[in-house]
Amino acid sequence: MSALKTSDKILVVGAGAMGGGIAEVAAQAGHIVYLYDMQAPMLEKALKAIRKNQELLVSKGKSLPENARNVVERIHCIDRLESASDASLAIEAIVENLEVKQSVFRKIEEILNANAILATNTSSISITAIASKLARPERFVGMHFFNPAMRMKLVEVIAGIASSEHILSVVYETAKTWGKIPVYARSTPGFIVNRVARPYYAEGLRVLNEGALDIATIDAYMRNACSFPMGPFELMDLIGHDVNFAVTNSVFNAHYGDKRFAPSLIQQELVLGGRLGKKTGQGFYDYKEGALALRTQTLDAKDGHMAVIASQNNPMIGGILDRFSAAGIRVQYEDIPPNQIRIGDSVLALTNGGTATSRSAEGKIQNLVHIDCALDFALAKIALLAKSDQCSQVNFDGVAGTLQKAGYQVSRIDDIAGMLACRTICMLANEAADSALQGVASIEDIDIAMRFGTNYPKGPLRWADDLSLKYVFEVLSNLSKHYGEERYRVSPLIQRKAISGDYFYGAT
Ligand SMILES: NC(=O)c1ccc[n+]([C@@H]2O[C@H](COP(=O)([O-])OP(=O)(O)OC[C@H]3O[C@@H](n4cnc5c(N)ncnc54)[C@H](O)[C@@H]3O)[C@@H](O)[C@H]2O)c1
Repeated sequence: MSALKTSDKILVVGAGAMGGGIAEVAAQAGHIVYLYDMQAPMLEKALKAIRKNQELLVSKGKSLPENARNVVERIHCIDRLESASDASLAIEAIVENLEVKQSVFRKIEEILNANAILATNTSSISITAIASKLARPERFVGMHFFNPAMRMKLVEVIAGIASSEHILSVVYETAKTWGKIPVYARSTPGFIVNRVARPYYAEGLRVLNEGALDIATIDAYMRNACSFPMGPFELMDLIGHDVNFAVTNSVFNAHYGDKRFAPSLIQQELVLGGRLGKKTGQGFYDYKEGALALRTQTLDAKDGHMAVIASQNNPMIGGILDRFSAAGIRVQYEDIPPNQIRIGDSVLALTNGGTATSRSAEGKIQNLVHIDCALDFALAKIALLAKSDQCSQVNFDGVAGTLQKAGYQVSRIDDIAGMLACRTICMLANEAADSALQGVASIEDIDIAMRFGTNYPKGPLRWADDLSLKYVFEVLSNLSKHYGEERYRVSPLIQRKAISGDYFYGAT
């Protein structure tokens, strides 16, 4: 299928944060763009922002002055939709309201010719519902850009119940020629990104709610040990709690109150109190002038050991052993359970999704300390540990000190099930797996969407494969057993693949 040609004209309706960016993307790709907004000053404001951004690209050597001038000249601000009657594609980015969008599209449908494609940038409204009032719903699709549209690569191309395959593929190919990375999705609540990302916020909020770890250390761990671009709290502060809470509520309500998506009371409290994040000067962090930065919690230096005993089978914590060897700590291999290291008479084990306390009791493991998942233990700056209640403080300190000798900053989280990163990554994979199972999008497209719509370091399904689905299943089962809540029910797809020894992508 072919993309639109640069000679095709594009209508962008709504010149706010998204519409302005989308107009710039289309103009940069060579199209004449009609930009319409019901508030004339918004057009001027959008044009000013586009001019400024183009100048910035020139000053950084990413564009030539002539190109930048052409981009701005290709954007025609119009004061009535009728002036865009020869547009081949209309992209709407107005207020997030079903009735208003339906009425604007009815008008667009009357003005544009019968072959024109109609697309909405909605983040949360059903594509099927918007299209339902059109005479020709088959030419209507979702074209979901991410903020800021010029910089974010992802575009979700979303099918409503009536969208034609042909129109979907034209929009997909057009997004590609605009330098974007498109993925296909079905019209379901939150589409791909806004659904699959929910656990990133939810698990951080749960850890905080249980008083297991402070905000700054949670953010630092997710950034420095797992390579997420931002921790959950700083990210929610940036998005704005009103927006983030509204998206969570919308996904929750759209799933008929499925507890999996239940919003957090902590976040509701921030919204009620007007602490919406960076934009109001206060959220989880205080952004007001003179405010003190929150300190992360790091353990003081402890005495460590210079020899450890490791399992011969350490697929997931081998990076720690490499760091031990590099620091002159002798590693001796013996026949002990996988992903465990004996340090003195303590056992350091990768969390299994339960608490260290229950694992210690059930497995009769003396002095058990859990370590949280990291993207790569060989590179992680921080190690996060949980002490089982049965482990003595001296033993815990010996484990922490040994990790410190290997260059890790060590922080301690209270002994909660699945710690922090482990439960977050496994829950992201769980949601991604359910989305794949329910036909929201393909396995590949879900991972692409999460990498380019949120800049996660890995797609959650690839990450699950790398951790091994057997491990992810064990973690989720233990979380489910521990909490007994619907939130932690295991995706049938993960369950099945883990039992049959299958992967999402095949063995790496
Ligand atoms: N902001 C984001 O991060 C983001 C990301 C992806 C998608 N979206 C979606 O994009 C759409 C726009 O969001 P935004 O953040 O750009 O909003 P915004 O408030 O910045 O801009 C909306 C613009 O639409 C105009 N408008 C409202 N009703 C109109 C009408 N009937 N006719 C013409 N113009 C009208 C307003 O004057 C305003 O300029 C929404 O559907 C939103 O869900 C937003």
